[in-house]
Amino acid sequence: MQPGRWGAGLARGGVPSQRTSPGPQPTRAQAEMGVTSVGSADEASPLPLALCHPLNATALQRDLEKLFGQHLATEVILKALTGFKSNRNPKKPLTLSLHGWAGTGKNFVSQILAENLHPRGLKSNFVHLFVSTLHFPHEHKTKLYQDQLQKWIHGNVSACASSVFIFDEMDKLHPGVIDAVKPFLDYYEQIDGVSYRKAIFIFLSNAGGDLITKTALDFWRAGRKREDIQLKDLEAVLSVGVFNNKHSGLWRSGLIDRNLIDYFVPFLPLEYKHVKMCVRAEMRARGYVVDEDVVSRVAEEMTYFPKEERVYSDKGCKTVQARLDFY
Ligand SMILES: Nc1ncnc2c1ncn2[C@@H]1O[C@H](COP(=O)(O)OP(=O)(O)OP(=O)(O)O)[C@@H](O)[C@H]1O
Ligand SMILES: [Mg+2]
Repeated sequence: MQPGRWGAGLARGGVPSQRTSPGPQPTRAQAEMGVTSVGSADEASPLPLALCHPLNATALQRDLEKLFGQHLATEVILKALTGFKSNRNPKKPLTLSLHGWAGTGKNFVSQILAENLHPRGLKSNFVHLFVSTLHFPHEHKTKLYQDQLQKWIHGNVSACASSVFIFDEMDKLHPGVIDAVKPFLDYYEQIDGVSYRKAIFIFLSNAGGDLITKTALDFWRAGRKREDIQLKDLEAVLSVGVFNNKHSGLWRSGLIDRNLIDYFVPFLPLEYKHVKMCVRAEMRARGYVVDEDVVSRVAEEMTYFPKEERVYSDKGCKTVQARLDFY
């Protein structure tokens, strides 16, 4: 999120400029996301709808190969995105809900998606990242957040129909906030003269991570391959589990019972071998020669659960980068 982008975006979309952001300074968000600059000149003015960036499915597929150990997420995301972007007249915006344990690649994949949808990725003026604890921290301000969110989405979709909205930390979002988004996700042709049907909404959450882990562990204990876990083994469990989970951000929200979420995307907990893959990828990204001894040492430093079997990394690949700094 870029400094002042709440205000700027509202103005861009023709809605009265509003400087009061729902939450503290966007600069903190900016720092967390590693976003440092404002949009390029080509993104400065409202885009005619026809100019919205087409999707290169091959490039997306290639980028998704960097996501390790997530055969389900890779498959669903590729299918969802290519299907949606090749449909000239979608009946509703695309809505993905990404679920899984810490450090399993939800933000990582969101970044890949953003970059494939808009060349400047998370830095694009058409990609909006909200972090619950940062932008919507106070429960008593729910109504204010709802109003601001609606204006923000209206303004930005007016400027670019294929805007992308990412809601991170959904499990920490106060119940009700997300209901503000509901009308935009529905099958309306237009709302107040704006069509939201080409927009994309992505929700990220740890909710349901326990259910996913249980299923993965059941497969592992039964000696079955991880890759044999199918979407149908998880999708129903997830949607019901998340709906009934008070801390999912989607608790009893109209989004689920109105079937407005197109895909529940499960992220499996990562194993030792995936952590090693992350270490290697990070070493290559830093221009190091991959040293298998260091790879093993970093991976062995991570903690694994359940206690007896030690199959899954409890932070996924999350601390790999920091740990590698010691070598
Ligand atoms: N499946 C994966 N494949 C490749 N790299 C991964 C994967 N999962 C995590 N990583 C690496 O670890 C970092 C942290 O992961 P990420 O932020 O995507 O986790 P997350 O699922 O959003 O976790 P949390 O729920 O804690 O926010 C990523 O930037 C990436 O470098
Ligand atoms: Mg995350």
